[in-house]
Amino acid sequence: MARRTLSLRVNGSRRRVSVEPDEPLLWVLRDELGLTGTKFGCGQGQCGACKVLIDGRPIWSCMTPVEAVADGREIVTIEGLGRPGNLSPVQEAFKTHTAFGCGFCTPSMIVEATALLRDTPRPTRAQIVARMNGHLCRCAAYPNIIAAIQSAAASGDGGEEA
Ligand code: FES
Ligand code: FES
Repeated sequence: MARRTLSLRVNGSRRRVSVEPDEPLLWVLRDELGLTGTKFGCGQGQCGACKVLIDGRPIWSCMTPVEAVADGREIVTIEGLGRPGNLSPVQEAFKTHTAFGCGFCTPSMIVEATALLRDTPRPTRAQIVARMNGHLCRCAAYPNIIAAIQSAAASGDGGEEA
């Protein structure tokens, strides 16, 4: 497919990219824009490692053609939620609760948890488990991940960006 120049809105900035329109958003974020916090796991919508927010909703960037999110859609990656020294409440809670092993799944876990707490500011444990169900953690850090999300929820501002 012929390359086209597309306009993306990523983490609050407008970015122009020259890409094949059907290229998965994941690779445009990583290879064209250098946003490597979003990970490739399976490429099939099974592991959740590639999730980013599109207009506030978590989506699999490995299965989303970049042209589908061009021209005005709001894309937020883990880099847009916070940064060293100015972490979001969910990022801070993951850090406090050591809610990771290798850290590979962590960006998408935080993206999903951020959306969860915006939708449901005081989730039950069962709601957290159900929502995070599509995210695999090879390090099995699940108990700490749940504790971190519960902690961010208890702080009352878990969904807000830094
Ligand atoms: S890489 Fe997208 S769901 Fe696994
Ligand atoms: S922290 Fe290693 S895969 Fe989740």
